[in-house]
Amino acid sequence: MSNQEINHGRRRFLTLATSAAGAVAAVGVAVPFLASWKPSERAKAAGAPVEVDLSKVESGALLTVAWQGKPVWILHRTEQQLQDLSANDGNLSDPESSVTSQQPDYCQNATRSIKPEWLVAVGICTHLGCSPTYRPDLAPADLGADWKGGFFCPCHGSKFDLAGRVFKGMPAPTNLVIPPYRFDSESMITVGLDS
Ligand code: FES
Repeated sequence: MSNQEINHGRRRFLTLATSAAGAVAAVGVAVPFLASWKPSERAKAAGAPVEVDLSKVESGALLTVAWQGKPVWILHRTEQQLQDLSANDGNLSDPESSVTSQQPDYCQNATRSIKPEWLVAVGICTHLGCSPTYRPDLAPADLGADWKGGFFCPCHGSKFDLAGRVFKGMPAPTNLVIPPYRFDSESMITVGLDS
């Protein structure tokens, strides 16, 4: 597990969801999951694909793996998170993922994914390369009443939704990169290989 780190956003999400009054308490709760992220020897090998077991990633949780020396997020999106995605469209720079360099053809869709519930994205901000923080909390004070969960870059404040799409007016010019990946079975994917 040295190259994999699960962020149990689900637990936090549920805690917050059961207490509307607790929403304000979400400020500063983001878990610094990358603090312990370390690429494995295998992942450090140039171009090595990485097999990932999805079976233990709970709904709402974020798993970080290393691929080509970069953090790759695997987010198990909840039904609610998927439903909320389209509400962001009017506030995004590229809601339809028209910049083709940012994802494979098979992920140029509304959820930027092969299966809607699984987001696979390179966790590096497209501004200057910091790693954004997973913020699944709803309407936190620091991100605004319209925040429906997403990723926040602490370096210069870029915001991305839970499909890795950048909001308008941010320093980051494009959506997060979706790497090539494929499903080998219901619960196994390989990052770095197409079907
Ligand atoms: S590196 Fe993310 S906003 Fe600048």
